[in-house]
This record gives sequence, C-alpha cells and structure tokens, in this order.
Amino acid sequence: MSKPLTGKVALVTGGSRGLGAATVRLLAEQGADVAFTYVSSKEQAQAVVDEVHGKGAKAVALQSDQADTSRAPALIDDVVAHFGGLDILVNNAAISVAGTVDDPDADTAALDRMHATNYLGVIAVTRAASRVLRTGGRIITVSSGLGSRVGAPGLADYAATKSGIERYTMGVARDLGPRNITANVVEAGLMEGGMEPPDPETLKVLVSSLSLQRMGHPDEIAAAIAFLASPAASYVTGAVLDAHGGYNA
Ligand SMILES: NC(=O)c1ccc[n+]([C@@H]2O[C@H](COP(=O)([O-])OP(=O)(O)OC[C@H]3O[C@@H](n4cnc5c(N)ncnc54)[C@H](OP(=O)(O)O)[C@@H]3O)[C@@H](O)[C@H]2O)c1
Repeated sequence: MSKPLTGKVALVTGGSRGLGAATVRLLAEQGADVAFTYVSSKEQAQAVVDEVHGKGAKAVALQSDQADTSRAPALIDDVVAHFGGLDILVNNAAISVAGTVDDPDADTAALDRMHATNYLGVIAVTRAASRVLRTGGRIITVSSGLGSRVGAPGLADYAATKSGIERYTMGVARDLGPRNITANVVEAGLMEGGMEPPDPETLKVLVSSLSLQRMGHPDEIAAAIAFLASPAASYVTGAVLDAHGGYNA
C-alpha cells in the first residue's frame, strides 16, 4: 500500500472499537502516527495499539472522556507531546441513545450525556485542535445519515447531535480555510460491529431504505475518512461525503 500520510500526525477520537479502530488501522497503514482516545475500553485500546505496532507503525491510546469538555485542551497537549504536532483530526467518538421525545420513562441523564459527548465534546476537541493544526491540516467529522434525514421514530436526540456537528464543521471550514486547513463530514451508515443498533423493527426500516439494502463494514467507511485525510482531497472542504449505502439516494 502507498503511504500518502507519511510524516502526518492524526488524532482519532474513539479509536478502541468499531469505525474508530478501523480508521486508526488505515491511517497508520498509510503512514500516519496515530493517537486515539477511548473512555473505558482499556484492553481493546491496547490491542489496537499492539496491532499497529506489529505492523511497524506508531499509535498511542489516550484515555479521555469526551463528555467532559474541560479535558479537550489537555488531550491535544498530550498528542503534541507524543508526536510533535497535529495534522489530522477525526471526530469519531459518539454514543447512541434512542427513545421517542414523548416517552415519560426517557433516561434524560443518558440523553444529556449523549448531547455532551456527541455535540459539545466534538466542539471542544475541534476548538482545542484548531489552535495547533498545521497548514495542510484536515478535520473530518463523523456524522450519520441521520444528520440530514431522520428515517425512523426514536432518533430525534441522536439526529440532533449529528446535524449540529455537521453545521459546526461547515463553519470550521470557513474559519480555517485561510490557513489551508480543510474540514469535512463523513455521513456514516449502519455498520456491522459498531455501536448497538436500534431495535430490530427500526433496524429493518432503516436497512430497507438503503440503496444497497445492507449494513456497511467499518473498513468501507474508514476508506472515505482516509480519502478526506489524504493529499488527494486538498481542494475538498465544507463537504459532506455520504458513506451510508445510499440512504438519501
Ligand atoms: N454503528 C453505526 O451503525 C453507525 C451509523 C452511523 C454513524 N455512526 C457513527 O460512527 C461513529 C463510530 O461509531 P461506532 O459504531 O464505531 O461506535 P462504537 O463501536 O460504539 O465505538 C465508539 C467509540 O467511541 C468511544 N467513546 C464513546 N464515548 C466516549 C467518550 N465519552 N469519550 C471518549 N471516547 C468515547 C468508545 O470508547 P470505549 O470503547 O472506551 O467506550 C469507542 O472507541 C460515531 O460517530 C457514530 O455516531 C455509527
């Protein structure tokens, strides 16, 4: 494989599992030194680090709770201390909490934690990273097809977090363009081996609405992220790249 990211330093939030782990592996294979965060999966995070090291590349796992926005500046300082700078930020970490808006038994604490993690946490990390990103830098925000279209009940809060970070990323593209830093969104689709899928009925509705009529694999979505991180995407900014099997087609 060619190594278009040689000499680059990447931070992938939520790299211990699912799409984040696939992205860590791919960016490292392409030559980047990769830092990634996790919140509780210490052993899985170490396994990802070991795998990357086994292939002769560099990775470091940093425990950092994205729901605690005050942690973001220290996280970015840690990345710079490890690898000497930052070129690529992949805002991937998120959680999913479902439930209809009129559910009297809604777990509002869990919903609030989702808003803190998926929305305020992404903003805090992006803000801190923007101060150190080098020229030619990349910000890639992982959203969902639900960021632009809510295709089933019970997903209002999750969709709001994704829609919010999409619009935020567009503003970031405007702010950082003069520094030759791009900011783009990847709308991921339903993935095997990722976060807990919605209930079976909702899952059926969502999968049947996809052009490809199947869930995706994390590697298929990591490939879209790696493209936006690559030199080939130097003139792509403020864009949304759909990698969700044709949810909007
Ligand atoms: N899976 C899907 O079907 C799907 C569909 C559309 C979009 N997406 C989006 O794709 C992205 C990745 O999803 P996934 O399915 O790969 O998720 P996942 O398998 O559940 O993994 C989530 C990752 O985020 C980390 N994380 C969670 N809360 C965190 C926090 N407070 N602070 C730091 N890290 C935290 C987790 O760390 P720990 O392991 O320590 O918990 C883990 O590394 C998300 O942005 C998601 O919204 C997913």
